[in-house]
Amino acid sequence: MQESKWWKNAVVYQIYPRSFKDSNGDGIGDLQGIIRKLDYLKELGIDAIWLSPVCRSPQDDNGYDISDYRDIDSMFGSLKDMEELIKEAGERNIRIIMDLVLNHSSDEHLWFREARKSKENPYHDYYVWRDGTEGLPPNDMRACFGGSAWEWVPELSQYYFHQFSVKQPDLNWENPKLRQEIYDMILWWMEKGVGGFRLDVIDQIAKEPDLKITNNGPRLHEYIRELSKETFRKGDLITVGEAWGANTELAKLYSNPDGSEFSMVFQFEHINLDQQPDKEKWDLAPLDFLKLKQVFAKWQRELYRTGWNSLFWNNHDLPRIVSRWGNDKDYREKSAKMLATLLHGMQGTPYIYQGEELGMTNAEFGIEDYRDIETLNVYHERLDKGYQKEDILNSIHAKGRDNARTPMQWDDSPNAGFSEGTPWIRVNGNYREINAKQEMADKGSVFHYYKKLIGLRKTYEVFADGKFELLLEEAKDIFAYTRTSEGEKLLIICNFHEKEIPFLLPEGWSGKEEILIANYNEIAETEKLRPYEARIYRKA
Ligand code: GLC
Ligand code: CA
Repeated sequence: MQESKWWKNAVVYQIYPRSFKDSNGDGIGDLQGIIRKLDYLKELGIDAIWLSPVCRSPQDDNGYDISDYRDIDSMFGSLKDMEELIKEAGERNIRIIMDLVLNHSSDEHLWFREARKSKENPYHDYYVWRDGTEGLPPNDMRACFGGSAWEWVPELSQYYFHQFSVKQPDLNWENPKLRQEIYDMILWWMEKGVGGFRLDVIDQIAKEPDLKITNNGPRLHEYIRELSKETFRKGDLITVGEAWGANTELAKLYSNPDGSEFSMVFQFEHINLDQQPDKEKWDLAPLDFLKLKQVFAKWQRELYRTGWNSLFWNNHDLPRIVSRWGNDKDYREKSAKMLATLLHGMQGTPYIYQGEELGMTNAEFGIEDYRDIETLNVYHERLDKGYQKEDILNSIHAKGRDNARTPMQWDDSPNAGFSEGTPWIRVNGNYREINAKQEMADKGSVFHYYKKLIGLRKTYEVFADGKFELLLEEAKDIFAYTRTSEGEKLLIICNFHEKEIPFLLPEGWSGKEEILIANYNEIAETEKLRPYEARIYRKA
């Protein structure tokens, strides 16, 4: 099917369930908590919720290590709660997008527990094994969360392969039985009324460890097309593939308009611009703003009518954008709105990560308050390598995943209204000033700005269709572009910095056009841009 493409006008909201809303006081967000907040999301105007994993899991990587794909972890509720969430959301025209982690499972999954019993076990070949001798792994490949990618199992005299933690053994997609088992599970969720799927690290499923290939393996798109044909294409779903290794050519395959793979791709080229080339994400570099413009422009240009992109600044793995490329001190509200304008004016499907619509900021914790496996591992690994403690913490403050995982700030009551118990991770200390209750009451807030942006996308077709053109390519402070469709044109202008700058409207624009949205109240001046000023003009 995939004919209607309703998702081209959609806006997706990502929920990290642990940190969204706790309904029973155990300090961990849960499904009933989400149900209580559906009206809030309805008010914001979103169309779909991408739910980070809620399936049963030992939580080694906060649910990205699944031990039963057909059940809900008791920490989040039950299957009945999930059905209730799908139904309650549906009544508000909100779809639920589930997070499918198909590159690996948990080592506590039945398949793996069986697989490690013997080489003859029918599940053995669901995972990736190599013979060997203890202490001499098949090669020097490293896992993303540190250490070797090979783990020794003495009973079998074999190693298994894991691209993430030791508790996340990689699934063997070469095995057709495994693939079929996955398809059956997806169809089972589709029966339950799930509205879409986000495919975790999907570009890594076709690994070839003997050749040291992790992403973009030779059979990748063959697998994805089969997956799509056997499952998604039987319904009218929204599907999004997470692909750290995508370039624009690959993206056209992932998001082929013929519907053979996914609805859209979720790629990170714009996100990787503040790290030193060929180093790790912890090796910080100042943002290259001109590069940012080029990267966005390239994706807009090359996917026009040939593919479809996700538009995002944030997710549960990334720091808060207002702390990263905005100014979370003196211009928090202005810069949060500017960054939103820049993104939501483009072609693609916008994603809002919980709290982004409030302009939530990074958390600066001491090491004892961090919970994330990646953060804790890099801390110890770098200490062992002789890095200075302050330097490591500096990187963690800037890039650590827990920045995005502090509890959602609902109001100014204790624990930000997130939980009546002790939250599993500390609340950001600024919740008394930054919270949903306060922002909903204030028409000038970041919340209302996001709401308006979402509304614009639903009112004017040009947001979905318009052709993108970058203006002022060389300008060091300004990000400006137009979107043009038949009979309609938008001009988006953003001052990316805290300085006031002289600015003249581009040819063909007088300043008398309709302003659809702007982050300064007063009528826009035509000869300068104020700090972090953003506007969208429209003419028909
Ligand atoms: C993805 C997820 C991340 C997880 C990893 C392994 O990148 O977004 O949170 O740790 O995959 O599943
Ligand atoms: Ca709970």
